[in-house]
Amino acid sequence: MPPLKFFMFSLFLIYLLSFQFSFTVAVDREYATHVCSTTANFTRNSTYEKNLNLLLSSIPTNASRGNGFSSGFFNATAGQDPNRVYGLFLCRGDQTTSDCQDCVTFAARDVLQLCPVSKETILWYAECLLRYSDQSIFSTMATSPTVSLLNTQNVTDQGRLNELVGTQMSQVVTQAVSNTKRFATRKANFTTFQTLYSLAQCTPDLSSSDCNTCLRGAVARLPSCCSGKQGGRVLFPSCNVRYELYPFYNESATAPPAPAPVLLSPPPPGSVTTSRGKSGISSSTIIAIVAPIAVTAVLFILGFCFLRRKAKKKYNAVPESNADNDLTTLESLQFDFETIEVATNKFSTDNKLGEGGFGEVYKGVLPSGQEIAVKRLSKASGQGAEEFKNEVVLVAKLQHRNLTLKNKDNWIGQDVTR
Ligand SMILES: *[C@@H]1O[C@H](CO)[C@@H](O)[C@H](O)[C@H]1NC(C)=O
Ligand SMILES: *[C@@H]1O[C@H](CO)[C@@H](O)[C@H](O)[C@H]1NC(C)=O
Ligand SMILES: *[C@@H]1O[C@H](CO)[C@@H](O)[C@H](O)[C@H]1NC(C)=O
Ligand SMILES: *[C@@H]1O[C@H](CO)[C@@H](O)[C@H](O)[C@H]1NC(C)=O
Ligand SMILES: *[C@@H]1O[C@H](CO)[C@@H](O)[C@H](O)[C@H]1NC(C)=O
Ligand SMILES: *[C@@H]1O[C@H](CO)[C@@H](O)[C@H](O)[C@H]1NC(C)=O
Ligand SMILES: *[C@@H]1O[C@H](CO)[C@@H](O)[C@H](O)[C@H]1NC(C)=O
Repeated sequence: MPPLKFFMFSLFLIYLLSFQFSFTVAVDREYATHVCSTTANFTRNSTYEKNLNLLLSSIPTNASRGNGFSSGFFNATAGQDPNRVYGLFLCRGDQTTSDCQDCVTFAARDVLQLCPVSKETILWYAECLLRYSDQSIFSTMATSPTVSLLNTQNVTDQGRLNELVGTQMSQVVTQAVSNTKRFATRKANFTTFQTLYSLAQCTPDLSSSDCNTCLRGAVARLPSCCSGKQGGRVLFPSCNVRYELYPFYNESATAPPAPAPVLLSPPPPGSVTTSRGKSGISSSTIIAIVAPIAVTAVLFILGFCFLRRKAKKKYNAVPESNADNDLTTLESLQFDFETIEVATNKFSTDNKLGEGGFGEVYKGVLPSGQEIAVKRLSKASGQGAEEFKNEVVLVAKLQHRNLTLKNKDNWIGQDVTR
């Protein structure tokens, strides 16, 4: 193999490996934290341990059923007093039934490794929580143990963020309390380029007044843990709140709430979820290029174009990829030039993010508020329309759900009170 070709081939392999890696990481649940009670332990081979194993093994199969509550929540017991085990799980309200089941299965498998002897345990992932105890924990508000997690990055305008978090949290709590799922999300503009996303959820076995008390208690802890930070969470066993400057929940699964009677103020226009293209891919994802993968994508394109050109010269008949198929889906998602011009403020230099191999990249904001990155094809680049289309198809394919939703920021836990 000639050295250049070998080099390109290596780039291609690196690209494939890195994509495979992100995919594998994304399938795992995003672990948040766990608390093992140290006040009561069970002994090996005890009846309690057997009951617990029975409960943990039955939870995944029962997970899809639900029992009188909305799906995504389940409570069960195993055994008889005094060795009865009470268990429950809760999935974040935007999770599909199968994602929920995956998360709970994952948690049930993990939990005994994390807390091998505790009679009472709670394990939180970003997408679900699993909890069990030797005491009845159903329909009872519990605000201890408390865990707060924060994104360590400061924002520049801390005062304004704290204010917006305060008002938005108050609204999202009101919304969550007033629906039977006890779950709500909300988003609002923070700066031109940043959107604040908030979420509140209680276990649906709580009454609305207990849920309200629980959530207000959680919100009240946000200033002490997470003031001025880019993201924060307060986790109680019975409820939790979270905010971020990126969409950490599935926006298309959290439809704008039906106007509820208890709702004090109507949701502002900013809370409407983004529209979706025919294929189910959000219409902006086609142009939005997530920065870290863009680099890999460019490397891939280079390798791809190079190999393709070489192959064409040699054989003059290259087996066409299924790119045509993909383009039929993609064509319906294209934006006209005027929309892009408005979004990038006429390709203003202020919006310029950088320069890639084939042209300049600009930051833009669509009328829906969605942020996008726009790559302007330069005539001098030598990249043809066909190559450009290929790149678009590729980047669209890279928009795996978990690639955009995955949080790469550093989280640290603190303030664990029991
Ligand atoms: C329970 O087990 C933990 C860890 O093994 C230990 O630290 C704790 O002291 C035990 N608690 C009791 C009450 O025995
Ligand atoms: C638990 O029971 C298994 C077999 O049922 C036995 O092999 C093991 O030694 C027991 N462990 C303890 C700590 O008693
Ligand atoms: C959970 O599943 C087990 C079998 O997998 C079943 O025996 C049990 O009745 C189920 N529990 C509930 C509360 O549905
Ligand atoms: C689940 O919780 C509800 C409400 O507290 C309770 O009535 C029901 O008996 C529980 N289910 C099981 C299987 O324990
Ligand atoms: C973040 O802000 C706090 C207070 O506003 C300050 O004490 C801290 O040093 C800042 N951290 C970083 C990493 O800038
Ligand atoms: C988001 O929710 C929708 C509707 O429930 C679902 O079809 C889609 O697969 C979800 N997307 C992700 C990334 O989980
Ligand atoms: C958010 O920003 C977008 C674009 O800057 C704007 O069109 C939209 O009206 C804003 N939404 C709110 C609720 O202010």
